[in-house]
Amino acid sequence: MIFETHAHYDDEAFDEDRDILLSSMRENEIEYVVNVGASLKSTAASIELARNYPFIYAAAGVHPSETGELDEAGFAWLKEQSLLEKVVAVGEIGLDYYWDEPAHEIQKFWFERQLDLAREIKKPVIIHSRDAAKDTFDIIAAKNAGEIGGVVHCYSYSAEMAVEYVKMGFYIGIGGVVTFKNGKKMKEVVEALPMERILLETDSPYLAPEPNRGKRNSSLNLVYIAQKIAEIKGIAYEEVVEITSRNAKCVYQI
Ligand code: NI
Repeated sequence: MIFETHAHYDDEAFDEDRDILLSSMRENEIEYVVNVGASLKSTAASIELARNYPFIYAAAGVHPSETGELDEAGFAWLKEQSLLEKVVAVGEIGLDYYWDEPAHEIQKFWFERQLDLAREIKKPVIIHSRDAAKDTFDIIAAKNAGEIGGVVHCYSYSAEMAVEYVKMGFYIGIGGVVTFKNGKKMKEVVEALPMERILLETDSPYLAPEPNRGKRNSSLNLVYIAQKIAEIKGIAYEEVVEITSRNAKCVYQI
């Protein structure tokens, strides 16, 4: 069965039919879901989902674009949450230079603090990085974050850099972009990576793969991503599902 390593089912896009959709996961071959926090509020919501659904686990973290809300009190609360049993990772954390705010220095500060937190509590990290390839890589290398381990989620940089992350000990999250007609770069990334380092993810409700591009995304679309990876790797679909699921259980210790 499929392991969804990155979704946001607390998003308001699911307010209408959240329970119906989540209750249909098992019959659609989705075994586990990690619901990823992106702010203090969505971390709380992710933990609530993990409480209500046995197959959902949570990640606790503040997305770089939301780091403006963080202070020591908020960080202390985050640490408390990150220690809960069904919280399997610190994330999503990282750098996002697509928007001007928060200032890069603020993003870097809280990225490093959350990396330190993960090391302290011995849980893996979920890295978000957009338009910040060099700074992200430099911080991860300087912090020896490969020892902490985790996943570079929704990976969007070069195949060469993906291989460097794998050498450090990271997994690479592959999502809907690999199915896009202009997704050549992602195909090169998949070609360059060993299957043992690839995780399946949707980032739902965002980034739906073909043939559902532009619509609301859900874990039910993971089949299209797995099929695409099977095609690129020249292996069976079932093999992609089995290996990526094993990888996910390994990184999240489930
Ligand atoms: Ni995300």
